[in-house]
Amino acid sequence: MPLTLQRGALLPAANFIDGHWCDGADGRRLDVADPASDTVFADVPDSGAADARAAVEAAHAAFATWRKVPAKARAAILRRWNDLILAHQDDLGRLISREQGKPLAEGKGEVAYAASYVAWFAEEAVRAYGDVIPAPVPGRRMLVLKEPVGVVAAITPWNFPAAMIARKIAPALAAGCTVVCKPAEDTPLTSLALVKLAEEAGVPPGVLNIVTASRERTPEVVDVWLADARVRKLTFTGSTPVGKHLARASADTLKKLSLELGGNAPFIVFEDADLDAAVEGLMAAKFRNGGQTCVCPNRVFVHEAVHDAFVEKLAARVGALTVGPASRPGSQIGPMINARAVEKIERHVADALARGARLVVGGRRLRDADCDSPNYYAPTVLTGVTADMACSAEETFGPVVPVTRFAGEAEVVAAANATPFGLAAYFYANDVRRIWRVAEALESGIVGINEGALAAESAPFGGIKESGYGREGSRYGLDDYLHTKYLCQGGLD
Ligand code: SIN
Repeated sequence: MPLTLQRGALLPAANFIDGHWCDGADGRRLDVADPASDTVFADVPDSGAADARAAVEAAHAAFATWRKVPAKARAAILRRWNDLILAHQDDLGRLISREQGKPLAEGKGEVAYAASYVAWFAEEAVRAYGDVIPAPVPGRRMLVLKEPVGVVAAITPWNFPAAMIARKIAPALAAGCTVVCKPAEDTPLTSLALVKLAEEAGVPPGVLNIVTASRERTPEVVDVWLADARVRKLTFTGSTPVGKHLARASADTLKKLSLELGGNAPFIVFEDADLDAAVEGLMAAKFRNGGQTCVCPNRVFVHEAVHDAFVEKLAARVGALTVGPASRPGSQIGPMINARAVEKIERHVADALARGARLVVGGRRLRDADCDSPNYYAPTVLTGVTADMACSAEETFGPVVPVTRFAGEAEVVAAANATPFGLAAYFYANDVRRIWRVAEALESGIVGINEGALAAESAPFGGIKESGYGREGSRYGLDDYLHTKYLCQGGLD
């Protein structure tokens, strides 16, 4: 079924380069499928190297003037963009749900989440302060200026098609940078709609450019940007292997990098925790977007004294989740993004069961009149999970809760840290000394303490270890798009 929006203009289905909506240079197209029905409902350009080059030309030319636009004027444009995004919350929410699969309420929630980053960076734009440094000798003045880094390449993921693009593009524009963007191949339409609204908000031609491309042609686009020394920064959210590749490939031009990569979040329930609160926190953190977020708990450790009671409460909640298409009121878990994602979940569950885990609830692909595509998976709880299982070592990125029993604090902290990743970690406890000890011992960029919902535009989002570097959101998020320039003037005595 074709998608109809209240405002058809939000479906440009074209690249946006130098202020023009255009086809790809060679006219190839990329199908966009609805994961709920596994059917194609739209298409966009399948761009290549020529389009990527045109986007950089435009962004490079526009940088010369955009960087000089006063921060207050850039902020006003961002505020208008925020207002337009919120004014189109229904259409954008439907678009997200249609191409990404999350339930409509979550889709609309994501629109508000995306807008919150735009509003935040509109306010931060005017606070890119420098410093005046006391000089060590007479007759000298020493200052620090913050300057925009230049052209930014933003490569965004499919799991939050609006929020991830907003939290990369808004700080870039706020800082005075210009942007070339390649959205995820599964979810290009939301990004194009956001760029359309940015155009309407008054972002000048060339400042924001977007090209869409298939999985196969993405390297063609990205390689152009990696090789081009005029692209001074790359910001990427996605897998750790791709992030490592981008870091290596950026080395020749030494681009500034922000890499928000994979996670393997531990979620620890200590024996003194409020179990009901812990179950609620886990439900919120694990099942957001059907388990397809980088900060979803991937390894759940429960103290042996409360293990059985916790699992019983958890299983009751997980078993009651409603799975169905995003468009159906009442759906809590939509389809996974595509069949490959479901195959990975199936592989993880099969591996865990083969190695001795116990299935408490779920554990199967769903295919019936309600779930009419190969992309649905039943919310699942496994117990007896051990570190050697694939679901402990890799991000499952789906609605599976693998539970491991533990006996002591030192043991569980060591287990939680026994991963190359360090994006998010969660724990529930009441003893205030333990809370500080564990919060400081966890090797993670983000720690939730008695809280499962961590994301906010005012907070720094990002990881350590192989989860990457750089921060998005918060006052730190602007810095990633700025250079620090030191000015020293002598002879003033
Ligand atoms: C992500 O999954 O990469 C982002 C999740 C969030 O913003 O909370």
